[in-house]
Amino acid sequence: ARVAVLVSGRGSNMAALIDAARDPAYPAEIVAVISNRPGAGALVIAARAGIATAVVDHKAYPDRTSFDAELDRVVRDFQPDVVCLAGFMRILTDGFIEGWGDRLINIHPALLPSFKGLDTHARALEAGVRLHGCTVHVVTPEMDSGPVIAQAAVPVLDGDDEAALAARVLAAEHRLYPHALALWATGALRLTNGRVTGADAA
Ligand code: GRF
Repeated sequence: ARVAVLVSGRGSNMAALIDAARDPAYPAEIVAVISNRPGAGALVIAARAGIATAVVDHKAYPDRTSFDAELDRVVRDFQPDVVCLAGFMRILTDGFIEGWGDRLINIHPALLPSFKGLDTHARALEAGVRLHGCTVHVVTPEMDSGPVIAQAAVPVLDGDDEAALAARVLAAEHRLYPHALALWATGALRLTNGRVTGADAA
């Protein structure tokens, strides 16, 4: 499967996907990395890995609809089968999301449906949960609420601060995203009534 990755920042999840895809046996190929921020570190990592990059700077567009229209055009130019959001920090319009159907996936740094939105690690510490983690899910118009493809849990330890917990979750993200993308890209999974099935056998 051809995969485009959308980023806004440092790109460590994108790098994990690129690394996984180096294996000829991996079922997906990263064909493009597209950022809404010209200064994103992810662009440097991708270019060094020999992957095509593009920037669609949201500041150059008057509204979300015109930004998303251009983003959609640029992404489609690379003819991806799957689009992965990896630290992409813009809310996408319903129109963009619906145009990709179940071919748009995201990684969220929490065990959904807990801790949707931002500042997940601080909120997990505040809530006193003992397990935290990350989720790869299909993107739907309702934020952080689409069908769950895969999750990984990590413990919350007594001495954790936000940075320590974030680092533990991030390490889990770097294992989970390549795994989940592989499951999704091979067509091993099915969406039935808004739920993902087939991951047990995979
Ligand atoms: C990750 O924690 C991801 O789950 C969240 O934003 C962070 C992006 O980090 N959505 P990176 O750019 O992949 O390093």
